[in-house]
Amino acid sequence: MAVKHFLQFRDLSVDELTHVFARSRVIKERFKRYQPYHPLADRTLAMIFEKSSTRTRLSFEAGMHQLGGSAIYLNTRDTQLGRGEPVEDAAEVISRMVDIVMIRTFEQEIIERFAAHSRVPVINGLTNEYHPCQILADLFTFIEHRGDIRGKTVAWVGDSNNMCNTWLQAAEILDFNVHVSTPPGYEVEPERANLFGTDHFESFADPMEACRDADLVTTDVWTSMGFEAENEERQKDFADWMVDADMMRVARPDALFMHCLPAHRGEEVSAEVIDGPQSVVWDEAENRLHVQKALMEYLLLGKTEA
Ligand code: CP
Ligand code: NVA
Repeated sequence: MAVKHFLQFRDLSVDELTHVFARSRVIKERFKRYQPYHPLADRTLAMIFEKSSTRTRLSFEAGMHQLGGSAIYLNTRDTQLGRGEPVEDAAEVISRMVDIVMIRTFEQEIIERFAAHSRVPVINGLTNEYHPCQILADLFTFIEHRGDIRGKTVAWVGDSNNMCNTWLQAAEILDFNVHVSTPPGYEVEPERANLFGTDHFESFADPMEACRDADLVTTDVWTSMGFEAENEERQKDFADWMVDADMMRVARPDALFMHCLPAHRGEEVSAEVIDGPQSVVWDEAENRLHVQKALMEYLLLGKTEA
C-alpha cells in the first residue's frame, strides 16, 4: 500500500480532515484531563530542521512523547545533509530507522524528493511554499470558536507566502472564501499555490476592503525565513499592510484574529489587535500540539476510534 504523506494541505480529503479534527478534539480533551494515551508506543519520529523553529519543534517533540513514542531532532548543521548528502539517500536511510518524519526546509521540491524515497510518512513542517500543519491548527481553532468554516470569509492581509498559499488550498478543500490583499508585486501566484482554480479567492488592492465583513482576519510576517535579503525593501513595500483596529472594525463584529507566530507588533499587526479580545493566537499555537498528534496518529494507525 502507498505510504500516506502530508506534504501540502490538499493531501488530505474532506473526509480525512473531518476525522483528524474529530480526533484532535478527543486527544485535546484527554490531554487536558492528564489521561495517558500511548497509541504510538515504540514509534520514533525524526524531525529535520533546515530553518529555525520554536512551536513546530516543541509541538512535534512533545506530541510524540505524549503519544508514547520518541522524537529525534536533526538539523542541517550537525548532519551529513549540510555536507551535501543527496536528499534521496538521506530519505532511504532515515526512513529505515524511524516510523515517521517531519521536515522543515526551503523549496517544496526538497520535501517531495525526500518523500519519493521514504518508506514512512513524511509531514511538511514548513517549506517556502506551504505550512499545512499550521493551517490544520488554525482551522481547528476556528471550528472550536465559531463552528463550521464552510461558506465563511477569511481575510488574508500581507505577503502571499507559505501561509497564504496554504489558506488558499484549504479554501478549495473545505469550501470557504479567502479575500487576499498584498502590496503590488507580491500577488498570489495560483500555480505556486497549486490551486485547482481561482473560485475560492478574490484579490483586493485595499486591505480594508479585504477585511470588510470577514469572519477571520489573518496575517503573517512581511519577511519569511529564507527571504531575509529582501527585508529592507519589504519594510517599505508592506508599510500599509499592518492589520490594525480599523481593519478589525470593518470585519464582522465577531471576527477572529489569527497569526501563526512569531509576530512583529507594529509591523504586520498592531499590538492592540494581536493582544486584543478578538485575537486567538495562543489557542492557535496550542492547537499545533493537538492537531499534529491527531495527524501522526492518522498517518501511522489510520482511522482509529480509540
Ligand atoms: N508558527 C510556527 O511554525 O512557528 P515556529 O517557526 O516557531 O515553528
Ligand atoms: N511565513 C513564515 C512562517 C513562520 C512560521 C516563514 O516562513 O518564515
